[in-house]
Amino acid sequence: MKELLNYSQKHKEQLINELFELLRIPSVSADSAYDKDVATTAEVVKDALIKAGCDQATVYPTAGHPIVYAEKLIDPNLPTVLVYGHYDVQPADPIELWNTAPFEPVIKTTPKHPDGAIFARGACDDKGQMFMHIKAVEAMIQNDLLPCNVKFMIEGEEEIGSPNLELFIKEQVDLLKNDIILISDTAMIDNTIPSIDTGLRGLSYVEIEVTGPNIDLHSGTYGGAVANPINVLCDMISSLMDENKHITIPGFYDKVIPLTAEEREELAEAPFDLEAYKKALDIAEVQGEKGYTTPERNSIRPTLDVNGIWGGYTGEGSKTVLPSKAFAKLSMRLVPGQDWHEITELFINHFNSIAPKSVTVKVTPHHGGMPYVIPTKHIGYRAAAKAIEKTFGKKPVPQRGGGSIPIVALFEEVLDSKSVLMGFGLDSDAIHSPNEHYGVWNYLKGIDTIPYFYQYYSELYKAEN
Ligand code: BES
Ligand code: MN
Ligand code: MN
Repeated sequence: MKELLNYSQKHKEQLINELFELLRIPSVSADSAYDKDVATTAEVVKDALIKAGCDQATVYPTAGHPIVYAEKLIDPNLPTVLVYGHYDVQPADPIELWNTAPFEPVIKTTPKHPDGAIFARGACDDKGQMFMHIKAVEAMIQNDLLPCNVKFMIEGEEEIGSPNLELFIKEQVDLLKNDIILISDTAMIDNTIPSIDTGLRGLSYVEIEVTGPNIDLHSGTYGGAVANPINVLCDMISSLMDENKHITIPGFYDKVIPLTAEEREELAEAPFDLEAYKKALDIAEVQGEKGYTTPERNSIRPTLDVNGIWGGYTGEGSKTVLPSKAFAKLSMRLVPGQDWHEITELFINHFNSIAPKSVTVKVTPHHGGMPYVIPTKHIGYRAAAKAIEKTFGKKPVPQRGGGSIPIVALFEEVLDSKSVLMGFGLDSDAIHSPNEHYGVWNYLKGIDTIPYFYQYYSELYKAEN
């Protein structure tokens, strides 16, 4: 692959321009106002895959947003890599907090990205990271260096919980048959401290509605005598964690598989600078479950967080009102052993059981997903580690990711294949936030590193099969 070592530098301008074209289309999957743009993005991705040299690329319609599939099959005796990514993005709001327009990509330097970073919604999550794979495969095909078969499945609903992907993979088991799944949709510790995620957390996401009186009331006439559903909701939510930040839902931790001392030690080797962490977030102190470090709290331990809470009067000025209803959206991140269906049920039962008689409570489950782990001894992890060592000049550190990509556990269940999480973003890239960005260096480094994954994976596969 040394023929490709200068590829990204040589084609830098074009690689950036093509990504910009993709970033300009607002493929927000959550908001139906963007349905047309999401569909256009699928077509642009398909065209890029054809241009890259795939034998065929198809846009598969679903009940929601389409899935793009493409393949380049060179020899049935060689292994097959399936690349998964998503072309949909999170909504851009709050739009007023962006320094530049979210769908007009620009390059600006940051302390973490002295060579410049591309600012746009989806730059890192996941258009930029997904596009690296198309361009890396294009480079390999053009130079006759593709060492194995490759398939692409790029979806348009990851950011809304992939509601139609499960059915698709169940229906297309043969089409998607592969030896290893390769995904760039996670982060590294730092550009000088490469790392590979060895896991993802699962997720259970619910919405809560608390109803008190049948109508909004005057908070003077009725206040003190009638339960205020916002007050009740706050009480209920705060009872879900004790003073040690331990979740109080009965049975919540029952099936958590504890890490062995060795596993904990291995993960503790990943460098972590608590002072820099606090400084970057402008917080005076961290908090979390007693007995665990900050990196453990955000990766190997389950959590419970309110994502949104509303009700009553939130407009300008003040209005004295005792509201009829209160709402919240709440997520629980889950770790190996926990089943999201079970946890959702435990939550619903517990939340109903702690509701005072003065209100009625309705909990509606949203999406969810299972946690995932890949051992560092897995051939896919080893191939990725070797590729990163080759281009970064340093062995990557294994770490467990705190985020979720729910389809990854389903890939294992339905397709019986492991996913390698070779992400090139940084936690500070502001994914899902205003001013999301992706380092130009990271984008080009990814394009340079991916071909080595194919090479080392093919070599290890041949030696071990
Ligand atoms: N790419 C992220 C997941 C991620 C981010 C994993 C950082 C590890 C580190 C993905 O697009 C995402 O945002 N997933 C959602 C879950 C989904 C069901 C909406 C998440 O983790 O909140
Ligand atoms: Mn993503
Ligand atoms: Mn995301």
